[in-house]
Amino acid sequence: MRRKLIAGNWKMNFTSEEEVTNFMVNLVPGMLADVLVCPPSIWLYMLKNSNCFIGAQDVSPHALGAHTGDIAASQLKAMGCKYVIVGHSERRTDHNETDELVKQKAQAVIDAGMIAIICVGETLAQRELGITEEVVTTQVFRSVPENATPANTVIAYEPVWAIGTGKNATPDDAQAMHKIVRAQIAKQLSQGTADSMRILYGGSMKPANAAGLLAMPDIDGGLIGGASLLVDDFNSIIDMVQ
Ligand code: 13P
Repeated sequence: MRRKLIAGNWKMNFTSEEEVTNFMVNLVPGMLADVLVCPPSIWLYMLKNSNCFIGAQDVSPHALGAHTGDIAASQLKAMGCKYVIVGHSERRTDHNETDELVKQKAQAVIDAGMIAIICVGETLAQRELGITEEVVTTQVFRSVPENATPANTVIAYEPVWAIGTGKNATPDDAQAMHKIVRAQIAKQLSQGTADSMRILYGGSMKPANAAGLLAMPDIDGGLIGGASLLVDDFNSIIDMVQ
């Protein structure tokens, strides 16, 4: 039985301690799902003793040392992080991150004793070309380390065309892709690993569509952007986990 994970990715939002505090005092994690908040790194210190898991949105592939602007996995761990998102499509696009780099980052997270949330997903152009399956399985093949297990890795399927657009994948379309991702994990790791590894859906998940997506057999939670900035919306998605 895979325990659901409801993860908020705040991206580059919230400019004051007041906004962060207001969100956190009103967050109601509940008992039925793991709840995770991934703020911008500058706010991690404020979440250190909160009632949910906390995570970072990116990590350096390097250990400590001369890497200006980077944050090491060991530093995120010291700040209380349990999870780190790697390979988000915004980083793949804005910073030209390759699958190879994403894999190195995932490995750094795993080596530090945290859980990597490895993001994959096709663009609209790729979907229209009919190459979604090939694109996503290749990303999984190249980005997921060989020593990934259900205890140290989560996959997030985030179709790029659904991120921040208000257009979510239908539950059936998302389920079909999650099944393909799980089959790919079985192929490259093992069936047992695939059966227990959590695969999150991300892309315009909100209170109006979350229940349908979360009811699908291979959808083990959500990676939520916009709706994770509104604490009432985030709470109501958490509440939908049965
Ligand atoms: P939205 O929920 O705003 O579409 O963002 C999804 C996402 O990218 C989460 O990582």
